[in-house]
Amino acid sequence: MTGPDRSTLLRAAAARAVLEVTDRGHTLESAVALVGRDLAVGDRAALQAIAFGTVRSLLRLQPAIASLANRDWSKTAAPVRALLLTGVFELEDAATPPHAVVTSTVEAARVLGQPKAAAYVNALLRRWQRERATALFAADRSPAGRYAHPNWLVQQLERDWEGRAPEIFAANNARAPLWLRVNLARTTREAYVAQLLAAGIAATAGDWLPSAVRLAEPQPVEGLPGFAEGLCSVQDAAAQLAPYLLTPPLPGVPLRILDACAAPGGKTGHLLEAFASATVVALDDDATRAERIHQNLARLGLAHRAEVKVADAGQPADWWDGQLFDRIVLDVPCSGTGVIRRHPDIKLLRRPTDIAGFVATQERLLGALWPLLAPGGELLYASCSVLKAENGLLIRRFLRQQPAAAEVTAAASSRLSGGAPVVVTPGLPGLVLLPGAADQDGFGYAVLAHRAAGASDEGS
Ligand SMILES: C[S@@+](CC[C@H](N)C(=O)[O-])C[C@H]1O[C@@H](n2cnc3c(N)ncnc32)[C@H](O)[C@@H]1O
Repeated sequence: MTGPDRSTLLRAAAARAVLEVTDRGHTLESAVALVGRDLAVGDRAALQAIAFGTVRSLLRLQPAIASLANRDWSKTAAPVRALLLTGVFELEDAATPPHAVVTSTVEAARVLGQPKAAAYVNALLRRWQRERATALFAADRSPAGRYAHPNWLVQQLERDWEGRAPEIFAANNARAPLWLRVNLARTTREAYVAQLLAAGIAATAGDWLPSAVRLAEPQPVEGLPGFAEGLCSVQDAAAQLAPYLLTPPLPGVPLRILDACAAPGGKTGHLLEAFASATVVALDDDATRAERIHQNLARLGLAHRAEVKVADAGQPADWWDGQLFDRIVLDVPCSGTGVIRRHPDIKLLRRPTDIAGFVATQERLLGALWPLLAPGGELLYASCSVLKAENGLLIRRFLRQQPAAAEVTAAASSRLSGGAPVVVTPGLPGLVLLPGAADQDGFGYAVLAHRAAGASDEGS
């Protein structure tokens, strides 16, 4: 007797990965890694595509499928629900012929220990093929179904961004491209793009940021020319602003930088590439993630200019040697609402009450680190959130409490080229990049200068 074929095992694994997220609260990345171990290596990319695509559209597909089901959706066994979601996602995605999707998904019900549900899965998938338009029309009735975002986040993004919210939802629901940061200390962007093209990898230079390159199709990094030697790093263009927003040192003048929430070291490496006279203290409170700072710096050949420490940035007494920093980068832990296209599970795992917790941590870190900044120095606050609570509102409160801090984001952003897709909200400090603009992630930045002793507000 032969066992289930590979395509059936793939569909069962995809449903399991979705279940890990929806019913066990695991991240999608860890879920795919976990269930992918049981699959043939050649099927893991397909697993990733189906699981990520399903989770990305889950809040839209769920009410649509439920509207066609002749059983109570909430009483349907969880593995069957997950299987129907992956099957319908695949029918909508159209990457695989529909008959193959239906056959394998129905068979997968048996692999998932739900043999009695096979006929039901078959009937519902076939009904979807006939009545998808009606079903999607039913999903349109609620904001969550229309935009594939939880209602609380729809409301929050609409409050924060009004007319721009629909473009944020659309960008969050799209697949993310792969962006690279070219190591401009070692090569030019033109030369590196030429190397990519010579290796058969289609790529274009980003419009407005000198280090950014966008690949036409995501690639395994090991296949990128010079990756192992540090010619490039994987980093979304929106995450590549740090060295442009900070005032560079005069040539040869040492610059002492604190990268306070540094792992996996994307910004640490970029700062060291950009500022030849800089040294960095790279801090993270997660020892496993901090290992990746070491790995990334070793690959870039920059380990000798950084000191990596595992500690709570909010408790300087545990790790600070008492020497002030010329620049501080505080890339805070946050809701991740700017990077939903890369982590669609955020839409299912995040709770509205989480936001206040993130804000409390962000305020704690900012308050603890400000005294470590030298007079005349600059602190760059960064988050991959597009919520105003985690960006401008928080910075505005901080500025009101801290008279030595002056907001200089506007002057700093004049170093960016004219086409930078930054949004500035009147009355709020900082700038925001909205997800999807120039095909980038969403990010928030604010630059705060420590007024040198004796400086005043007058004339500023
Ligand atoms: C947004 S990620 C940083 C990304 C990083 N800057 C980069 O560009 O690659 C936030 C990091 O903050 C770390 N973190 C969270 N709370 C922290 C704390 N209290 N002290 C230090 N690091 C913390 C997390 O472990 C996580 O690695």
